[in-house]
Amino acid sequence: MADNKEKKEEKKSSYISAKESRKITKFNRKVTKRLEADRANAKKDPSLYKTHMKDDKNVVEFDNVCTYFFTDVGVVKAVDGITFNIPKCSTVGVVGESGCGKSVTSLSLMQLLQRPSGQTVGGEIRFNLGDGNAYNIVNTPTSKMQEIRGNKVSMIFQEPMTSLNPVFKIGMQVNEVLELHHPEMSKEEIRNRTLEMLEMVGIANKEGVYEMYPHELSGGMRQRVMIAIALACSPELIIADEPTTALDVTIQAQILDLLSELKDKINSSIMLITHDLGVVASMADYVVVMYAGRVIEKGTADDIFHHPAHPYTIGLMKSKPVVGKKVDELYNIEGNVPNPVDMPDYCYFRDRCEMQCERCKAKKDGAGADYPPEIKISDTHFVSCYRFFDEGEVLGYPKTVNAEELLK
Ligand SMILES: Nc1ncnc2c1ncn2[C@@H]1O[C@H](COP(=O)(O)OP(=O)(O)OP(=O)(O)O)[C@@H](O)[C@H]1O
Ligand code: SF4
Ligand SMILES: [Mg+2]
Repeated sequence: MADNKEKKEEKKSSYISAKESRKITKFNRKVTKRLEADRANAKKDPSLYKTHMKDDKNVVEFDNVCTYFFTDVGVVKAVDGITFNIPKCSTVGVVGESGCGKSVTSLSLMQLLQRPSGQTVGGEIRFNLGDGNAYNIVNTPTSKMQEIRGNKVSMIFQEPMTSLNPVFKIGMQVNEVLELHHPEMSKEEIRNRTLEMLEMVGIANKEGVYEMYPHELSGGMRQRVMIAIALACSPELIIADEPTTALDVTIQAQILDLLSELKDKINSSIMLITHDLGVVASMADYVVVMYAGRVIEKGTADDIFHHPAHPYTIGLMKSKPVVGKKVDELYNIEGNVPNPVDMPDYCYFRDRCEMQCERCKAKKDGAGADYPPEIKISDTHFVSCYRFFDEGEVLGYPKTVNAEELLK
């Protein structure tokens, strides 16, 4: 009986009446129109997107970035106030469970969000142009983005078959990137560079593959071609979003080795997005752990793997199977991620946390405590958890955006 009542209540709370639905649609239309107009203005006024890096040693600085989706059921805060850096010539692993905002973070950096419903509504994404200047990607006009995409930042997607065009030969698809970004190169030079790239990614029969269509290649070879396309212009940053998920384990290792080797050859950085902790452990210099659209812990690979501080990271480490260790049941973190349309105003992990302290639970008025601030617990290690409130240096709370205020 009680169960039925609970289910009814739950249904009631997620039910949207026709009137509410119309209100949401009207609001979405208004707000996205305003945001698109602001973007168009940035084209006329470069001071809106030209900026400087906080630290010139970084390729990218995410500073309180908020990316929201204005959907039929309300505002989905897919990424809500994330801050982290990608230093030059290093690999940063971004980990977290499905739906925590990893891909949306990378798509925000490439300005490839599904617009107009997907919008970066707050914060700055600074991209280092290398001459003492930087662009704030959030406001950068599309024409300028085209100079960056594929040239200075490139992306390797999860599924090579859907990323390659099935009706064009491999050679043409690699040539295309070079033709676009290097109009000064002759046809002959482009062809030679493409063959060189195919050789560099370990394709033995480069002349043959140049003339083949994607369906004639194996999954591993297609991913090698994707890497060749991504690296053709020697980008400063390679975003690899689950680059090996579609491949079998032996090929996975080869592709990851190849990626790190090539990264060192062209002195670029990698933003490696994955939910595979083994991949991160073997490749990353720095690790960013995300949960429900926020960064909950970040540090060097050693900090995260050997001294995890946030209960969620500790849970992730415990849930990793260890070869040779016999267990009756693998550890799993009980409970679910909160509803992205209606996030709580306290720690997002509190309802699943086994390590809660007094500070997590109560505000003076009896309601839940605020979302925890970012706390520095060593020179390289940062965590958003009240357990470290007294011993670490409190840096500040994530700056979130009130969607209603975007219209003011
Ligand atoms: N086009 C969209 N419209 C509405 N919501 C979206 C859209 N794209 C992503 N989201 C929401 O944003 C959140 C983050 O999605 P994202 O794709 O970044 O997750 P992820 O961490 O990459 O997960 P996975 O590991 O499964 O790839 C999810 O809650 C998702 O539902
Ligand atoms: S702030 Fe509290 S509830 Fe949140 S993860 Fe830390 S200990 Fe758990
Ligand atoms: Mg993803």
